[in-house]
Amino acid sequence: MSLKNKKILIVIGGGISAYKSLDLIRLLKKNSVEVKTILTKSGKEFVTPLSISTLTKNKTFEDIFDKDDEASIDHITLSRWADLIIVLPTTANFMTKLTLGKAEDLATTVLLASNKDILLVPAMNVRMWLHKATQRNLKILLDFGYNFIGPEKGEMACGEYGEGKMSSPRQIYSYLKNYFDQKNLVKNKNFKALVTTGPTREYLDPVRYISNESSGKQGYEVALALNKLGIKTKLIAGPSNFISSKDLKIKKIVSAKEMMDEVKKSLPVDIAVCAAAVSDFKPINKSKNKIKKNISNINNIPLKKNPDILDYLSKNNKSRPKIVVGFSAETENIIENSKIKIKEKYCDLIIANDVSKKDSGFNSEYNQVSIIDKKGKIKIIPKNKKSYIANTIARIILDKLLMNDKNIN
Ligand code: PMT
Repeated sequence: MSLKNKKILIVIGGGISAYKSLDLIRLLKKNSVEVKTILTKSGKEFVTPLSISTLTKNKTFEDIFDKDDEASIDHITLSRWADLIIVLPTTANFMTKLTLGKAEDLATTVLLASNKDILLVPAMNVRMWLHKATQRNLKILLDFGYNFIGPEKGEMACGEYGEGKMSSPRQIYSYLKNYFDQKNLVKNKNFKALVTTGPTREYLDPVRYISNESSGKQGYEVALALNKLGIKTKLIAGPSNFISSKDLKIKKIVSAKEMMDEVKKSLPVDIAVCAAAVSDFKPINKSKNKIKKNISNINNIPLKKNPDILDYLSKNNKSRPKIVVGFSAETENIIENSKIKIKEKYCDLIIANDVSKKDSGFNSEYNQVSIIDKKGKIKIIPKNKKSYIANTIARIILDKLLMNDKNIN
């Protein structure tokens, strides 16, 4: 698969590495990519509209209020035209503008209005890159869903050495090739996923139930992230506030039994992610009427075990999803206990989270997790927004799925 006929919009930022945009454009044009460009005011200090247009064979856009083009092009049209947008070089200042959601010129307005994937290619002095402000911005931008390539380690234009050097046009080209190859593969394979999320409720009587603090947010974000990667995903959610959208189908359930039934109905799928905090037990009997507070035996509520959905999925010989991912909520010996779960429950990955922490895990915007594979290899994702954690998990799942598929075919 080549990049032929792909449409790429390049925003040229204000840094010395802007000159490398010309090499990238040449490389892309040689491979029949259609390229349009926006030259920022500071980018114009380093490269000229004439040199860019000569290579792209297209007008170089500069101004948000361009009288010549008012009728034919605006910031929305430009961003909808592209298959992918690249910002090259992405300076520290430009990263700040993006974190603030500025729309002060054509470049920032196009990016804010974009519904496409955006690739940022940072280039700056090593101190600027490692500064807490830039690193904080990096986290925010990753959470917004921006993709990054680089910066690389090396000697910079300022003469200093370190992380901050812009990736080369060749590296960017390889990234783009992989990116479009993977997108194409996912589209052709028509992958499907199911994600369980939220708590379950096990009723004792019409008004009282056994449940937990899960909000469903972590699983919801995983479902969105898988969808964004082009995988058709169904979310099976316990009581929560999420509603279905055009992009994400959500099936609401209440009890563990209903969740299990819905999971069974959703098979076969290629990926199953169990992020739900399923109640392990349920009352053996549900009283038809509200239990009176003066009943004689208040110390005895007979319970029985709920079915284990994750276990069912991983050990299902007939239609086992190619990748089964469990979550593990622990308050002590997180890694050891989670390693036991991955073995017992037969899953391919387990996402261990410490649910004893304040402002992380259950019912929080944040989480911190360790992703453990069957061989015991661990990847730690420090505390971050659940959306960021979900994007990382989704990427790892997709890579694993594609690797699996490659080995089978
Ligand atoms: O919902 P949030 O507020 O966003 O919080 C997220 C979370 C902390 C709930 C989530 O990240 C998480 O850890 N989910 C799993 C919670 C849990 O039930 O963990 P567990 O260690 O008890 O269960 C292990 C695995 O078995 C889980 O994948 C669980 O979904 C699954 N399981 C458990 C019991 C059961 N009857 N059926 C199951 O499928």
